[in-house]
Amino acid sequence: MTAVDAKLQQITQLKSGVTRLTLTDFRNYKNLRLETEIAPIVLIGENGSGKTNILEALSFLTPGRGLRSAKLADIKRIHSIEDSNILAADSWSVAADILKNDEPHTIGTALQKGLREDIEDGETHTFDRRVVQINQQKVSQQSELGKYLSAIWLTPQMDRLFQGGPQPRRSFLDRLVYAFDLEHAKRTANFEHLYRQWLQLLKAGNQDHYWLQSLEQDMAALGVAIAAARREQIARLNTFVENEPDDIFPNVRLELSGTIEQMLDTHSALDVEDFYAQRLKTQRRHILDNESADGVSRSDFKVYFQKKNMPADLCSTGEQKALLVSIILAQTKCQILNKGFAPILLLDEVTSHLDDKKRDALLEKIMALNLQAWITSTEEKHFAILRQSARFLTVENGCIR
Ligand SMILES: Nc1ncnc2c1ncn2[C@@H]1O[C@H](COP(=O)(O)OP(=O)(O)OP(=O)(O)O)[C@@H](O)[C@H]1O
Ligand SMILES: [Mg+2]
Repeated sequence: MTAVDAKLQQITQLKSGVTRLTLTDFRNYKNLRLETEIAPIVLIGENGSGKTNILEALSFLTPGRGLRSAKLADIKRIHSIEDSNILAADSWSVAADILKNDEPHTIGTALQKGLREDIEDGETHTFDRRVVQINQQKVSQQSELGKYLSAIWLTPQMDRLFQGGPQPRRSFLDRLVYAFDLEHAKRTANFEHLYRQWLQLLKAGNQDHYWLQSLEQDMAALGVAIAAARREQIARLNTFVENEPDDIFPNVRLELSGTIEQMLDTHSALDVEDFYAQRLKTQRRHILDNESADGVSRSDFKVYFQKKNMPADLCSTGEQKALLVSIILAQTKCQILNKGFAPILLLDEVTSHLDDKKRDALLEKIMALNLQAWITSTEEKHFAILRQSARFLTVENGCIR
């Protein structure tokens, strides 16, 4: 056993995860109460029975927009559809008893209607918002949840992560960063907000130089902080993989490509910030023809199959899945070591595309991690190896038994 494995075991002797889950009007669940252990939990059910919905509900116990990045209103349980009229519940909620290193807490989140006055027409409008409670106290910052529960997920949508445009890869990387740096979520949200404001001004033909300049300076400062945090996470994972190579899953090499991220190799943060602000200023004229300004909203996250030196997008379907598993396993271990408590794993159809050897190896690795992993599948027979150590639940049309 390596020193890292011993340290991981020492930390995960104390249990972290969900011990009771309660859903109300959440997707196809009217009312669900489920008691669980800190162990692998295998959810077996037919297509459309409600397996992914459980993982999505669990993902809402952590900061962010959940594993499907869905609109909050779409989650409300639809009870009937009449003549294309959708009738849904007014709200939804997810509540849980959890353990963090054996210490019990209760956390919960729900959809609530907020009221907002429109500055332009003076009218009051309702809007959907997600409210959060921790140990019976309302908390205003969603990021607080991250101090109690952490979740790492892998979904079938990610099977195509290495194909297509960089936006989903950036979001994937940013989620890996959030786990270590709760401020990162606020930074990326603030950056997007400023960027939209800047773009709106330019589209409206506003030439207020000082206003634009102040936005550009704020964006540059946030952008450099975002780039630095992404670099740090990539370096952390690369170092971990180098020192702790996996025996079955391919070792990955991660790279960031982005003007701002790369400049940080050779320049001080302050210099890069000045450069970034200046760069945004010179892009004012061209931005309306381009999709996005050069900078952190264009960066890409590249993954290589180290041994073959092959970019992930040129790897086979199963190899790409194995690369994703490698990243997730490294992130899980780094997170346990760094935060001192284990995340829960939400693995949706994780065994698809993996051959029998890799599938069994993954399940063994999950067992060895000694944490709570929620695994969905339509095929119970693939999980024989977990027979002794996992809890098997059958999902059927919004019910679990
Ligand atoms: N807001 C909603 N209200 C009611 N039902 C919903 C809502 N949103 C989604 N559903 C339904 O919930 C059901 C279960 O969805 P889910 O994605 O959890 O299925 P699954 O068990 O993961 O299936 P698969 O094996 O195909 O991935 C689906 O039939 C879906 O249409
Ligand atoms: Mg599903």
